[in-house]
Parts: sequence; C-alpha cells; structure tokens
Amino acid sequence: MTNFLTTSALGRGDLDALIETAIAARTGRVDLGKPLAGRSVALVFFNPSLRTRASMQVGIYELGGNAVVLEPGSTSWTLEHREGVVMDGGKTEHLKEFVRVLERYVSAIGVRTFAELKDWETERADPILAAFESYARVPVINLESAMHHPCQAMADMMTIKEKLGLGKKKVLLTWAWHPKPLPMAVPNSFALAAAQFGHDLRIAHPRGYELDGELMESIRGHTEVNGGSVEIVNDIGSAFDDVEVVYAKSWGSHRFYGDAEGDVRERAQYRTEWIVNESKMARTVNAIFMHCLPVRRNVIVTDGVIDSPASVVIDEAENRLHVQKAILAKLIK
Ligand code: CP
Repeated sequence: MTNFLTTSALGRGDLDALIETAIAARTGRVDLGKPLAGRSVALVFFNPSLRTRASMQVGIYELGGNAVVLEPGSTSWTLEHREGVVMDGGKTEHLKEFVRVLERYVSAIGVRTFAELKDWETERADPILAAFESYARVPVINLESAMHHPCQAMADMMTIKEKLGLGKKKVLLTWAWHPKPLPMAVPNSFALAAAQFGHDLRIAHPRGYELDGELMESIRGHTEVNGGSVEIVNDIGSAFDDVEVVYAKSWGSHRFYGDAEGDVRERAQYRTEWIVNESKMARTVNAIFMHCLPVRRNVIVTDGVIDSPASVVIDEAENRLHVQKAILAKLIK
C-alpha cells in the first residue's frame, strides 16, 4: 500500500485485513501502539467536514502523531492544480510547490476535494486528487474526492460486518430526494466496496440518476470475482423487499451536470416518494439503516427511521476513526 485513493486499488485480502485490524483495535484485542510517534500528517481540506476531520485528527493523535490541518483559500493559500497555466488569476500557489514543501515536513497527506458539479468529463477523472498523487512522494489518503470516499466505504463495510456478521448480505443503496444535486463519491465508493466484499447489491434510483458507466463495469467485475451480484431498480417501493441493509444517499444526475437548476427541476417529482420511511423499512428483513452523514432529517430519512433501533449511523461514524487508524498504521511505516 503506497496510497489510499480508492478501495479498487486493493485486493479482497488487504481490505479484509484492514477491517479485521480495525475491529480488533476497537474491541481491545489488538494494540496498534504509536506507529506515528514523532511524525506529522497533513490534512488538506478544500471543503467542510465534521467526521473526516475530527476522526483523522483524533486517530493521528491516538497513533502518537501530530495532525497539520490546512484549508486552501482560508488558512493556507489558494491553490492551482492545472499544469502550464498562467497564474494571473485568483490562485496564489501551485500544488507542485505546495505538495513538495509539505512533504518535507510530513509523512503522509490526506486530501478532501469535492466535485464542483460543473464539468462531468473533467471531474470524473478526479483531477485535484490525481495532481496530489502525481507530485507527492509520501502516501496520499483520499478523504473524499470528486469520485470516491474510500475511508467512508471502509467504515461502512466494517459496520455491516460488525452488525450482521460474516458473509454476503442483501444490501440496498437507495437514492433519496435532496433539495440540490450532490456529488457521487459516497455512492460510488459504497457500491464499489459492497461489490468487492461480495455482497448482493441493489442500487435504486430514478431514471436519469445512473452511476458512472465505467464504474458500474468495474462493480460488475468485482461481483463476479467475489461471488456477489448487482441489480439496478427504478422503483423505490419494491427496492426495499428482502434487504438486510438500507444505505441512503442522494446524488446528482450526469444529465444535468453543470446545470444545478435543471437537476432541481427534474428531481422535484421525486420529493415525496424517494425518502426512507417506516413503511419502506417494514418491507425489509429487519434491515439496518445506514447513511454517511450529514443527513437532512425528514428529507432523506424520517425521524422515525433514523431514531429507531435499526439506525446504525452513529456507530458507522465512529468506525471512521477505527478503520482510518488501521489504514494510517498500514500506510505509514
Ligand atoms: N461522512 C463524512 O465524510 O462526513 P464529513 O463530511 O462530516 O467529514
């Protein structure tokens, strides 16, 4: 492991080992020690965060290290990532210097850089994360990029294993209505990891809200190798039948990428139907309810579901800490 950018870069054995380490450390069976003693890790946040920022800072501290949090455009200079541009606009520093200076101080760099939802063909290539990867000689950790949120997906897989035990599960990833289009990193990484862990994955979304075609090919490939399956449904009601996990998330449509107002108009028709509520949960086999958070109550999910015993969202958020500690301990030797 040289970087942690997406789960697809790792095999099933490595992914299982990280989750085993995280569970063993959380339950006190293993002491991860202080592998980061005397070392610092930079956490670069282009966007807001609660869970990622707090869990990374705490995790680095618990492993004996020091976290350096930087917010380009706020607590550090605005950053240009494109090659060969004339920097006569608003950007003060190029990522080349930023990374090369930073790695003289730190042992790894974590990066959060959301999709701007402006240009699909550009953003699906994850350009800012790719620039960090190309310039850095220390490990880079993806703390949510335009296309992936692998730390979240690992915490999600850990939570499913802890709550439901070993083996494949029937897992529903359901789109939900939200007042504005959101990035696809979380659903992309959840679907990918579910396929890598061999679960039977059902993805429910209205027509026009398909995940990236190339990613879906990769997901289908992983299901074949790992013994799971994937199906796409466009009917929110029957989507909940027989599943053991309900994972809710909203995301934007490729069709309206760069046209937020168009997406808002399109999704208006789904407002009342595409919400996780008690009647839909009743169609499952006592499914657990998951969401990466933050979540809009009574928009994505009703109070009745998120406050019910089926909801595991707080444990899921706690697992970010444990699984990221396992990743950091493995990555930083
Ligand atoms: N789930 C998640 O990444 O939360 P934050 O955006 O608060 O970090």
